[in-house]
Amino acid sequence: MPTVVIASPKGGAGKSTTAILLGTELAQAGAEVVLIDCDPNGSLGLWAGRGRIPDRIRVLSDIGESVIVRTIRANDQDGRIVIVDLEGVASRLVSRAISQADLVITPMRATTLDATVGIRALALIAEEEEALDRRIRHSVVFTMTRAIRSKQHTGIAESLAGQGVDVIEPSLMERSAFSALFEFGGNLRDMPAQGNMDAAIENAAQFAQAVYRRLIGE
Ligand SMILES: Nc1ncnc2c1ncn2[C@@H]1O[C@H](COP(=O)(O)OP(=O)(O)OP(=O)(O)O)[C@@H](O)[C@H]1O
Ligand SMILES: [Mg+2]
Repeated sequence: MPTVVIASPKGGAGKSTTAILLGTELAQAGAEVVLIDCDPNGSLGLWAGRGRIPDRIRVLSDIGESVIVRTIRANDQDGRIVIVDLEGVASRLVSRAISQADLVITPMRATTLDATVGIRALALIAEEEEALDRRIRHSVVFTMTRAIRSKQHTGIAESLAGQGVDVIEPSLMERSAFSALFEFGGNLRDMPAQGNMDAAIENAAQFAQAVYRRLIGE
């Protein structure tokens, strides 16, 4: 079953948050999920150590470049969904993870600087496509967005559309519940209320569904 790789060379773009929201919402919906933490800073490990790891989720930490390919292949079976969280760099580990992906998601804040650096992920994917002679599906998701869209956001979205880049809707809004995942661990449903929980859960669930539709080829 599918491997989703969360990749952006931009630090702090929301990669680890996206990985956790996607993993916990897919598990909530009934999927078996394996979260692979490839970031030496160990954000997923930190989340996993904070609270009870939700049902149907396994977390594998400290996965480096020498074992990433076999770790993905060993877990990418029996209907499980593998989600790989990477460090905000371009490296051999990142390239190897991308080489195994069915879908690469690049989280991106809707600012000019973040989009300019984040979009470099496309070049990394193109290199892997050339080396492997296969297409690798790729999507962008805007993160930490506000209820009122900025002009910058609209301009960046238009520019990506013009380049034929797939943008996942809904974007992941800026929500205190999302940053609180690193405080409480677990999923949004088990967490003490942080702001508008219903809206946060709805946003995360719809995002996960939009990703799932891509995984099943819709
Ligand atoms: N949608 C969101 N709403 C609120 N806070 C968010 C959201 N997404 C990310 N954050 C916060 O922004 C910071 C960076 O997010 P995160 O760690 O997910 O980014 P990253 O791309 O994984 O960073 P790194 O490159 O360091 O691995 C964290 O403090 C996180 O809690
Ligand atoms: Mg991270």
